[in-house]
Amino acid sequence: MLLIILLAFTHICHSATINSDNHHFLKLPLLHINPLQSPSQAFSSDAARLSSLLSNLHRKPNLPVTSGAYAGAGQYFVTLHLGTPPQPLLLIADTGSDLIWVTCSACRDDCSVTRPAHSAFLARHSSSYWLHHCFDPACRLVPHPRPPVACNHTRLHTPCRYEYSYSDGSITNGFFAKETTSFNSSTGKLLQHDSLAFGCGFKISGPSVSGPSFNGAQGVMGLGRGPISFVTQLGRRFGNKFSYCLKDYTIAPPPTSYLLIGSTTGNSRFRYTPLLTNPLSFTFYYIGIQNVYVDNLKLRVSPSVWEMDKLGNGGTIVDSGTTLTFLPDTAYRHVLAAIRRRVKLPTPAGSPPNFDLCFNVSGIRRPSLPKLSFKLVGNSVFSPPVGNYFIDTSENVKCLALQPVTSPGGFSVIGNLMQQGFLFEFDIGRSQLGFSRSGCSRA
Ligand SMILES: *[C@@H]1O[C@H](CO)[C@@H](O)[C@H](O)[C@H]1NC(C)=O
Ligand SMILES: *[C@@H]1O[C@H](CO)[C@@H](O)[C@H](O)[C@H]1NC(C)=O
Ligand SMILES: *[C@@H]1O[C@H](CO)[C@@H](O)[C@H](O)[C@H]1NC(C)=O
Repeated sequence: MLLIILLAFTHICHSATINSDNHHFLKLPLLHINPLQSPSQAFSSDAARLSSLLSNLHRKPNLPVTSGAYAGAGQYFVTLHLGTPPQPLLLIADTGSDLIWVTCSACRDDCSVTRPAHSAFLARHSSSYWLHHCFDPACRLVPHPRPPVACNHTRLHTPCRYEYSYSDGSITNGFFAKETTSFNSSTGKLLQHDSLAFGCGFKISGPSVSGPSFNGAQGVMGLGRGPISFVTQLGRRFGNKFSYCLKDYTIAPPPTSYLLIGSTTGNSRFRYTPLLTNPLSFTFYYIGIQNVYVDNLKLRVSPSVWEMDKLGNGGTIVDSGTTLTFLPDTAYRHVLAAIRRRVKLPTPAGSPPNFDLCFNVSGIRRPSLPKLSFKLVGNSVFSPPVGNYFIDTSENVKCLALQPVTSPGGFSVIGNLMQQGFLFEFDIGRSQLGFSRSGCSRA
C-alpha cells in the first residue's frame, strides 16, 4: 500500500487560488510548550514530567508512518487558519510525519456549549469545506481504515476515509478533505490556498494525540517529505523550501521561533549536507552522519554504525517533533564513556531515571562540559552548543540529553533540543539541508 501511496503522488497539490506569487515566503510563529523550559518553574515537577515523557519516546523501527508527535511535550506548535471564514487551530509542527489533520466536529448550532472556541474545526461552519470522494486520486495518498470499504465511483457521498497511525499506536481516523487555508504573507498580504488536503479527524485515540500529552493541540501539521505534507502541498508556490529556527526557550521571556515556508533570501553562512532518501519511506528527512567528536577527538565508532541499509533500516533523521536526540547504541556508549572520562564533576545523589549521565554542578558557576560535534556527509560539521545536549533536570543537576537507539533496525534522531539556535533550511528541490548558527536573528 505504501508503494501505491508513493506512486500516486503527483495528483494532489496543483491548484492554488493565486498563481503568480512574488511573495518570498510565509512566516508562521512557532510556539513552544515544554516541561523543561522555564527556570522559574518548580524543578522537581519538571523532572517528574520529563521522565514520564521519556518512556513514550521509544520509536519502533522502520515504520513508514511514525511521528514524534507522541513525544507529547517539548513540542513546537503552529497556528493554521482553516476554512471560510478562517478558524484558527493549534497544530504540532512535525517533520516526522506527513499528514495534516485536525480534530473535527460536526456540530452545527450552539457549538460553544459542546465545543469551546477553537477546540475543534467546525466543518459545518465553513463554506469551503470539501470532502474528497473515495474514487478521487487524492484518496490513494492516505492509508485507509480496515476492513476496506468498497468504493463505488458512480455513487455520490462516499467520502474518502483515512486512518493514520503513529508508532505508539495512537490513531487519527476520519475523512480526507480539502479546505481553504489563509496566511499572512511576509509582505503583510492575506494569502489563500484553496485546496489544502487534510484529515478531518473524528476518531482520535492514543497517548500522543489526545489527553494532556497533546498539550492542547488540535492536530498535527505534517512537515515531512511525502506528497500530502504541508510543505509538499505548499512547496510549489514557495520554491520547495522551508526553514525554521528553534530559539532557546530557557531564555525569559522566550523568543518567538518561526516556521518559514519558502526562500529566506540568501544566507551565505549555511553549511550543507545532502538529504538522503529511504527506499521505504518518503516521510523523513534523513541526513548522513560520518563521525562523532568529543572535544574535537574523533571517537572510534565505525562509520557503518550510522548508515542506512538497503532495506531502509538505521540512518539518521532530523525531526522537529522529537525532543531528545537518539544515537545508535554503539555510538551512544562511546560518547558516554568519552564525556565521563573528561568531566570530573560529582554525580548527583539519586540521578534522574532515564538519563545515564548526570553531574552535580552545585557551586560551580560555569561548569565546563565537553564539546560534541558531528561530521556530516558533504564535509560539513554540526557543532551544537552545550545547552543543546546537556539539560537541567533539577537545580544544579545537568544530564546528557541523549538516548540510545536500542531496537534493531531503529534509526537515529536529531531532536528539536539539539536543533536549537540554528537556522535549518530544508531545501527539498535541491535535496539538501542547510544549517547556520548565525541565521536565527533573521528568522
Ligand atoms: C454502484 O452504484 C450504482 C448506483 O447507486 C449501482 O447501480 C451499482 O450497482 C453500484 N455498483 C456496485 C459494484 O456496487
Ligand atoms: C493576520 O494578522 C492579523 C493581525 O495581526 C490577525 O488578526 C489575523 O488573525 C492574521 N490572519 C491569519 C490568517 O494569520
Ligand atoms: C550536590 O552537591 C552539593 C554540594 O556538595 C550537595 O549539597 C547536594 O546535595 C548535591 N546534590 C545532589 C542532587 O546530589
